[in-house]
Amino acid sequence: MSNELIDKLNSKIEYAEKALNAATCDAEIENMRVEMIGRNGFIPAISAEMKNIPPQDKPEFGKAFNVAKNKIEALLEEAKERLKAQDRKKSEKFFDVTLPGRKWALGGKHPVSKVIDDCVAIFRRMGFIVAEGPEVETVYHNFDALNTPSDHPSRDPQDTFYFGDGRLLRTQTSTVQIRYMEKNEPPVRIISPGRCFRRDTPDATHSMNFHQIEGLYIDKNVSMADLKSTLLYFGRELMGEDTQIRMRPHFFPFTEPSVECDFSCIMCEGKGCRVCKYSGWLEIAGAGMVNPNVLKNVGYDPEKWSGYAFGMGIERIAMIRYRINDIRFLYENDMRFLEQF
Ligand code: PHE
Repeated sequence: MSNELIDKLNSKIEYAEKALNAATCDAEIENMRVEMIGRNGFIPAISAEMKNIPPQDKPEFGKAFNVAKNKIEALLEEAKERLKAQDRKKSEKFFDVTLPGRKWALGGKHPVSKVIDDCVAIFRRMGFIVAEGPEVETVYHNFDALNTPSDHPSRDPQDTFYFGDGRLLRTQTSTVQIRYMEKNEPPVRIISPGRCFRRDTPDATHSMNFHQIEGLYIDKNVSMADLKSTLLYFGRELMGEDTQIRMRPHFFPFTEPSVECDFSCIMCEGKGCRVCKYSGWLEIAGAGMVNPNVLKNVGYDPEKWSGYAFGMGIERIAMIRYRINDIRFLYENDMRFLEQF
């Protein structure tokens, strides 16, 4: 009786071995698994017959049963591995050389970043270094230290974003003048590009956030001539070697005297066109000689040190350079616009 069963086991193993070696897909292996060790399969059926075996034959049969069961499980595992390895080989071998290559989408610089980079490069050549300051500022750094009287219109909550706790969003990069001088002894030669915020109603030329680049030069015996020659060199590097500049008297609390600096129009070379509103000049920078009160506020001796400062709007330069007629294009992140630069 147990011999008969052992024969049955052996022939079943042989059968499973043949079938599994020939299997070419997962479904065939799965069918064999169900047939052999599934709940209603061969192995559970044989195991159910165990109780009919005479006690003296049980050890021998039990051994044979375990061997068979392990063997079948091993065969199933082997077959699965073999199919997997075959699949791997196939995909390694197959390489379709006619497939189009993978495209790496290359990003480009935003026009505002391009103008910042160009301006920084020009001032670097003149020995300026880049300094940075926070966008969330104190009222002190944005106004008081810059000699701005308490009734100055720029302090109006209609123009400035206040947090109500002595902090605000900086309205100008001139804050960095103060921050730098507080921490460093003269001489000073810095530029500081960065984001500023004003409570402007957005239109073609106004945005609530925009960028400026600030310059500060402090040394002994600095004069308006130094300021003018620096801005002229900058204008020619940025806009072309025929660029002319002119200065008009103006007022800023932190400079005295103060000027507006115009560059000759790059579109019409000063002849007059729509871009320069037929004046031949483009208003580019606010500038002036640093007010002695500002120097005192940071602990510099105004008898010993003097200097100039200037500030310009980056978007305005970008708009002129790339002929963009609405500042809002710069902030809409429309790819059709950005891809042109
Ligand atoms: N901060 C001034 C503005 O925002 C520009 C400026 C900077 C003027 C430095 C003079 C000196 O308009």
